[in-house]
Amino acid sequence: MKNDACGFGTKAIHAGNVKDLQYGALTTPIYQSSTFVFDSCEQGGRRFAGAENGYIYTRLGNPTTSVLESKVAALEGGEAALATASGMGAISSCLWTIASAGKHIIADGTLYGCTFALLNHGIQRYGVDVDFIDTSDLDAVKSHLRPNTVAVYLETPANPNLKITDIAEVSKLVHDYNSEIKVVCDNTFASPALQNPLFLGADVVVHSATKYLNGHGDVVAGFVVGKADFIGQVRMFGLKDMTGAVLDPLAAFLLLRGLKTLELRMARHCENASKIAAFLSEHPAVEKVNYPGLKTHKGHEIAARQMKDFGGMLSFEVRGGKEAGMKLVNALQLITVAVSLGDAESLIEHPASMTHATYSAEELAASGIAPGLIRLSAGLENTEDLIADLKKALDQL
Ligand SMILES: Cc1ncc(COP(=O)(O)O)c(C=O)c1O
Repeated sequence: MKNDACGFGTKAIHAGNVKDLQYGALTTPIYQSSTFVFDSCEQGGRRFAGAENGYIYTRLGNPTTSVLESKVAALEGGEAALATASGMGAISSCLWTIASAGKHIIADGTLYGCTFALLNHGIQRYGVDVDFIDTSDLDAVKSHLRPNTVAVYLETPANPNLKITDIAEVSKLVHDYNSEIKVVCDNTFASPALQNPLFLGADVVVHSATKYLNGHGDVVAGFVVGKADFIGQVRMFGLKDMTGAVLDPLAAFLLLRGLKTLELRMARHCENASKIAAFLSEHPAVEKVNYPGLKTHKGHEIAARQMKDFGGMLSFEVRGGKEAGMKLVNALQLITVAVSLGDAESLIEHPASMTHATYSAEELAASGIAPGLIRLSAGLENTEDLIADLKKALDQL
């Protein structure tokens, strides 16, 4: 189907689909096969040499996963996408493809904890130099660019303090310096329903598809999206040889199912988060609320420019710091204490001891992650029930 001009919801349902010529199945079948049969030894050789199209082995490609990859490429506005077994699988496959010993990466200091660990404790062991800076500060980006810089890595909105970086400004600045440097943007918090970093000038988008893209808390998956040449390199080197983080075809099927409702789900996540942020801002027990939709948020204007809505994630601090924050979380009855995000269920967690436990106390402070910060993923429940749960717990403090 030709659907370049279709709306996001239509693309999420139809883009990339391949007509099932054998049985006419409406939904994409699950090709739960590790390997694919060749007619002959010669045909196998041609497939390996790239002289003939066709599947070889699921780590290199699979028909169910291919439909999913085409769909996600269409949703992000990229030439191609690569599905991986987790968000970390996507990020590591991507960065191992770009970086090598002697090269330099600029990364934002506020990142998902395991991404920070990969950049801070992992990749540096192999001779890659990493500078952690604040990418929302353009002067800081400019002053850290070097002749050997190969990537600028950022999240916006960032996990967990919802910091906003201007993707267009950073991409322009970096590419004016050297058009070969890859601006890599983790778009997990916004999802392509709200933000398309590639349209804003970034080179590569990575996702934890475990979150909004799947949306049902039953799959761990990731994506790398960008130019076809680059995605080919990530597939045939970063994923095939370095990480092996291949997505299972059953998980690809579940993701195809989840994606059909992404646009609808995001609208409800945004509505709930925005009403909760407004409620928390007014509550006397709350000291600070981080939500890009609030006019008081430092990145509000940039977010309003580069996002279609402000997302389903927020974080906040209650008066009384970490102890009071933990008391609040433990008093909730509907909102569930769990890491992860983007699910139908509202989830709440304490970053300093959970998702961001890979940061030292000094690193947390330098990255603006307060010891008492609480992160909330607004789910799809009715808003009044979520606010009633929060109010009851906050009133007890
Ligand atoms: C922003 C962000 N990026 C990447 C990841 C890693 O994804 P996964 O858990 O699917 O490996 C996470 C996980 O929470 C995340 O929040």
